[in-house]
Amino acid sequence: MAAVPAGQHAHWSSRFAFILAAVGSAVGLGNLWRFPFQTGENGGSAFVLIYIGCVVLFALPVLIAEIAIGRHAQQSAISSTRKMAQEAGKSANWAIVGWVCTAGGFLVLTTYSVIAGQVMAYAASGFAGGFAQPDGANLFYQGEFIQLAWHAGFMLITILIVARGLKGGIEQVATFLMPLFFVMLIGLTIYSLISGAAGEAITYLFTPDFTAVTGNTFVAALGQAFFSVSVASAIMITYGSYLSKDTNIGSSSILIASADTAVALIAGLMIFPIVFMVGIDPGAGMGLIFTALPAVFADMPAGNIIGGAFFALAFIAAITSSISLLEGTVAFVEEHSDFSRPTAAWLLGFFAFMIGAGAVWSSEFGGVFVDWLSGSFLLPLGGLLVAVFTGWVIPKALMRDELSHASNGLFAFFHFSVKFIVPPAIGFILLLGLDAKFN
Ligand code: PFF
Repeated sequence: MAAVPAGQHAHWSSRFAFILAAVGSAVGLGNLWRFPFQTGENGGSAFVLIYIGCVVLFALPVLIAEIAIGRHAQQSAISSTRKMAQEAGKSANWAIVGWVCTAGGFLVLTTYSVIAGQVMAYAASGFAGGFAQPDGANLFYQGEFIQLAWHAGFMLITILIVARGLKGGIEQVATFLMPLFFVMLIGLTIYSLISGAAGEAITYLFTPDFTAVTGNTFVAALGQAFFSVSVASAIMITYGSYLSKDTNIGSSSILIASADTAVALIAGLMIFPIVFMVGIDPGAGMGLIFTALPAVFADMPAGNIIGGAFFALAFIAAITSSISLLEGTVAFVEEHSDFSRPTAAWLLGFFAFMIGAGAVWSSEFGGVFVDWLSGSFLLPLGGLLVAVFTGWVIPKALMRDELSHASNGLFAFFHFSVKFIVPPAIGFILLLGLDAKFN
């Protein structure tokens, strides 16, 4: 099958379908797994406030920029950035912006699938009554081959959906699963607030305490904001390329970033009342939801069902994100090779699986190196490049044209931000992160 010519690929059926798919990409393990443990490790409410600041000041402008770039050029992230640079009379080497983002998104997928596999295994053990037994959460997650099998299973589902294409795959899954996700999230949060230590959780999350703030709090909050809103990973450029010209990008972006932030905060309200009820250390790190929560579910009435439902919820969140992560690279390969979409999805999915498998065998490689490379290096670097590209390389009038629905105020905020706020701030935070890593 021939490569897909520019502008001739599929489009979303409606703005609503786009919003659901984009919110599906943004809402994921970042909200349910990463946000709670980052909050716990970085001082609770102070982190939450700085995080919200990072979303508004950095992630939102980059999100608007990415969707606009994709919609304008109607191609994958790499081709879109190249095309726009050439249109602006600048060097085609600016495609580096797309390359960094695409590499970042692809690397995120490799380890994301490993964690999502564990989530699936825990959902299964919950529904099978595992949480009631000592160490029962691990009922179906013991030994490296089993862990690899769950990782493979999750990647397989991701591949099968992406292979079916935009409308038959990604859009269908998002429109079916996202409403279900919200209903389950609200139900579980109400349950947790009623039966857990709600007051303590609310104080922990929302009473400002700046004594715990360090340089690292900013590095962590920025990385988390980019990760959670799915920016700097080629995905939003790609999803933007499937958008029609009459969609209001500014208001859609605000909606996507707000929904994602709301889910992170609600997830905090779902998880911390349970954590505090049993007096578990909220700073328990990456394992917070995998070690702390199952122990709590073990002692709760109907804990198996509630626990199983919690991990099923996390699975839904994860799959609507992983399909976007794979789509970013599949769109590029489909465009530039003779591979059909299913072949591209299988090849890239397999490749991502293999790198993720390294993470199962070596946590030093997976949890530490790949997570650092994608979360603390490539995503901030990608965000920085997108901002410099939109603020300094692309003519302002071209961006204004693409964002024609935005009010003057919103556009002024956006353009000032990508030009003057995001590049120095992210540059500084990136250096802080590199310094912390290598010194
Ligand atoms: N935003 C997703 C989450 O919070 O789990 C993860 C993610 C998806 C990151 C897509 C980056 C991305 F491009």
